Amino acid sequence: MIRPMTIEDIEKVLDIFNDAIINTTAAYHVEPQTLEEKRQWFLAKQKVNDPMFVYEENGEVIGFVTYSQFRPYEGYKYSMEHSVYVDKNHHGKGIGKILLQKIIDEAKIRGVKTLIAVIDSENIGSIKMHEKFGFYFAGRLKNVGYKFDKWLDIVYYQLDIE
Ligand SMILES: CC(C)(COP(=O)(O)OP(=O)(O)OC[C@H]1O[C@@H](n2cnc3c(N)ncnc32)[C@H](O)[C@@H]1OP(=O)(O)O)[C@@H](O)C(=O)NCCC(=O)NCCS
Repeated sequence: MIRPMTIEDIEKVLDIFNDAIINTTAAYHVEPQTLEEKRQWFLAKQKVNDPMFVYEENGEVIGFVTYSQFRPYEGYKYSMEHSVYVDKNHHGKGIGKILLQKIIDEAKIRGVKTLIAVIDSENIGSIKMHEKFGFYFAGRLKNVGYKFDKWLDIVYYQLDIE
């Protein structure tokens, strides 16, 4: 089931996110985050009322989704950048799709104009998933990331919300 994220979920959310930091280029962080950093992240997002949801199965959090304003200037207030992460032991079971649909629904309810995914260009799973929901390619920035001794490109995918 999907439910709003609470501060008690932060440890598991951190585990999922840190696993992606340590083992993948899905996130361009290089060092794992601390529990305190993730708590502050949650509190800052809660303060500005960003939506945050987790997917829970048998009492265990195995995925999360959230968005925040694309850039921190008022003129961007209808454009949101989202992130969706699923525990690697549960990939390919449809949970990413459920979480992405939830954040799209929430964006609609809140009057968001554009949802933006910033994706590592080699993250084919994420690109395919976003395309499935109508996100379209909106640009590429070359060599803006550097991780695992390699230059990385990001691609933007955006969804126009009716
Ligand atoms: C991307 C991610 C969220 C997808 O979640 P998931 O629960 O594994 O995905 P789902 O099972 O819901 O599948 C969603 C769709 O994505 C696509 N997809 C997922 N993994 C794929 C892969 N390895 N190759 C090709 N397509 C893939 C498929 O289109 C799939 O739909 P389908 O099953 O109807 O064909 C998950 O792999 C993840 O957490 N990855 C690490 C973090 C990350 O990359 N987050 C996104 C950052 S932009």
